[in-house]
Amino acid sequence: MIPDKAPREDVLYAAGDLKKEAHVPSFEKYKELYIKSIDNPDEFWGDIAKDFYWKTKHTGQFLDYNFDVTKGEIFVKCMEGATTNICYNVLDRNVHEKKLGDKVAFYWEGNEPGDESTVTYRELLQQVCRLANVLKSQGVKKGDRVSIYMPMVVELVVAMLACVRIGAVHSIVFAGFSAESLCERILDSQCCLLITADGFYRGDKLINLKVIADEALHKCRDKGYLVQRCIMLRHLSKVEEAEVTPLGSQSPPAKRPCPDLQQDPQRDRVKKTRPVPQVPWNPKVDLCWHGLVCVASEECEPEWCDSEDPLFILYTSGSTGKPKGVLHTVSGYMLYVATTFKLVFDYQPSDVYWCTADIGWITGHSYITYGPLANGATSVLFEGLPTYPDVSRMWEIVDKYSVTKFYTAPTAIRLLMKYGSEPVTRCKRTSLKVLGTVGEPINPEAWQWYYTVVGEKRCPVVDTFWQTETGGHVLTPLPAATPMKPGSATFPFFGVVPAILNESGEELEGPSEGYLVFKQPWPGVMRTVYGNHQRFETTYFKKFPGYYVTGDGCRRDKDGYYWITGRIDDMLNVSGHLLSTAEVESALVEHEAVAEAAVVGRPHPVKGESLYCFVSLRDGVTYNRSLEAQLRKQVREKIGAIATPDYIQNAPGLPKTRSGKIMRRVLRKIANNERDLGDVSTLADPSVIEQLFENRSCSDV
Ligand code: WT7
Repeated sequence: MIPDKAPREDVLYAAGDLKKEAHVPSFEKYKELYIKSIDNPDEFWGDIAKDFYWKTKHTGQFLDYNFDVTKGEIFVKCMEGATTNICYNVLDRNVHEKKLGDKVAFYWEGNEPGDESTVTYRELLQQVCRLANVLKSQGVKKGDRVSIYMPMVVELVVAMLACVRIGAVHSIVFAGFSAESLCERILDSQCCLLITADGFYRGDKLINLKVIADEALHKCRDKGYLVQRCIMLRHLSKVEEAEVTPLGSQSPPAKRPCPDLQQDPQRDRVKKTRPVPQVPWNPKVDLCWHGLVCVASEECEPEWCDSEDPLFILYTSGSTGKPKGVLHTVSGYMLYVATTFKLVFDYQPSDVYWCTADIGWITGHSYITYGPLANGATSVLFEGLPTYPDVSRMWEIVDKYSVTKFYTAPTAIRLLMKYGSEPVTRCKRTSLKVLGTVGEPINPEAWQWYYTVVGEKRCPVVDTFWQTETGGHVLTPLPAATPMKPGSATFPFFGVVPAILNESGEELEGPSEGYLVFKQPWPGVMRTVYGNHQRFETTYFKKFPGYYVTGDGCRRDKDGYYWITGRIDDMLNVSGHLLSTAEVESALVEHEAVAEAAVVGRPHPVKGESLYCFVSLRDGVTYNRSLEAQLRKQVREKIGAIATPDYIQNAPGLPKTRSGKIMRRVLRKIANNERDLGDVSTLADPSVIEQLFENRSCSDV
């Protein structure tokens, strides 16, 4: 399946320097290791596991699984019998065993240039232990769920690892999601505690996070669910004084000087004086982060967890519209993200690594927190935007910290490309060695710009294909080993066995195109949908028994390279974020004016795809600009700003089959102004088509 020798034509080779020190220095070495990972996983992963701390060793084989629904329940178990703690592995082990206590774990770079702070591995461990003790004192126990709704600050990492230390399961909700979305996720995960912050700035815009969090907690209460505690970090407001009022007291929070905060290196990291949010305070549930941690102990024995204990839940869009709580477990995830991080970015101890994703997405979980920390890496943690205060910001940060490995999304590359090369070449970027992308297919033009302008043809580009569900990279080049083809995620990572199936579920050999599936598990694959194992089986394993179905289309070329062609289900990928059409549709029909809605994707030069919404109104309602604005607002409030519709079109009639099914294929053509509709013989009422073309809401094509 993987060629013995790398092709010589139509490919680009990594710079020679990288090969000298690389972990996997040639294609031959990649192939040799790949075969070992498949033929002898126990030995392959067993060697890797030796570098981690296990309280007790595993018994039996490395992976035990069933991937075939016709043979019973789907399950994956990795390293059964072993006990460990990820927090211990990524912090204590680095500080005490590897003597990395003084090494910088994160350079925090705020939204505003000049806002910055540094945290070492030792400091991170201290902060995590304190918060872990706080959580324990608030009654959080092993297995309990904790929701985290925070901006990109070091304390977000502290909060995650504090949960992990005590065996609690974190469920991070991206801080761009609405109160409604947060509420839905809190209810689904039945979490007992929420950790949030006062607010943050995105460019010039203040986000009142605590206000939104409170609204979510109210909604939960209205639905009969009480979140018992809410810990709020003061990120924007000054922290000289901390609230120490005990819970339940009706008086406004009393303040007392908090001595430890005077020495907090994080203190006053936000320099510019800007309006600070007035935070609503509910003394029945609200607690002040600083007030609690400053009196907590720095000693906290980790909770030893079984390999298959839950580690975290992360929600991802599902085709029914209801988000799925993707559940990852302890040992397999830890080994997989540590190994992919090390090999895909060819991590070296002198690296400064920067992943621009938000920790609220899987990329941030795996490749800001767990993967880099497991390797003792130094990373940049960036709060801001690529275009604020101007479009050189990314490259200025690269120069400021001498970033060597840089990981971003195609949408960011395409956005910056629009401004030409000068904002890039204005900065030196000589430190860069490897460039990565993730989130959606990267078009060859953007790939070339990234490779040529940003990396000056010195740096290999690793186009990493993976999903929230896969835990880590599954198709990816290795920077010194894999000859690159712009736009291709190239070959499988170790332990991963891809296949391409046709509609009848037959495996296709050689050059072919079809459904991308995986034939066996790798350590980092998700284990279940939280609280709904049946949905897990139906979504990923039912269509083609014996395979994990990604939902993506894929082409394999004559050299065996894999090319992701995009989603082939009811999912849209907007700026690297998956949205389900059903979720947006249900937000639209909740508006009283809307009778029916159908949402399709329309190609977008920066975002990859944009949302094009067709709405049929109830009788007697007229379509106008004000209604359109209300509908946009409705979707933002229901889901979040990432789901804001780009186009809304009044559609008095929708193209349906005689059995009443909306023909999305036809709507996609209309959104794109493509007249060649293909076979429309099953349409119940062909006359709606012309009207839809006339009513198109954009005239740009
Ligand atoms: C979907 C998963 C994995 C972290 C970010 C997104 C698309 C992701 C690539 C890539 C082509 C890609 C797929 C996938 N995707 N990376 N390198 N090339 N497509 O995580 O929200 O779970 O989305 O993103 O469609 O299924 P996610």
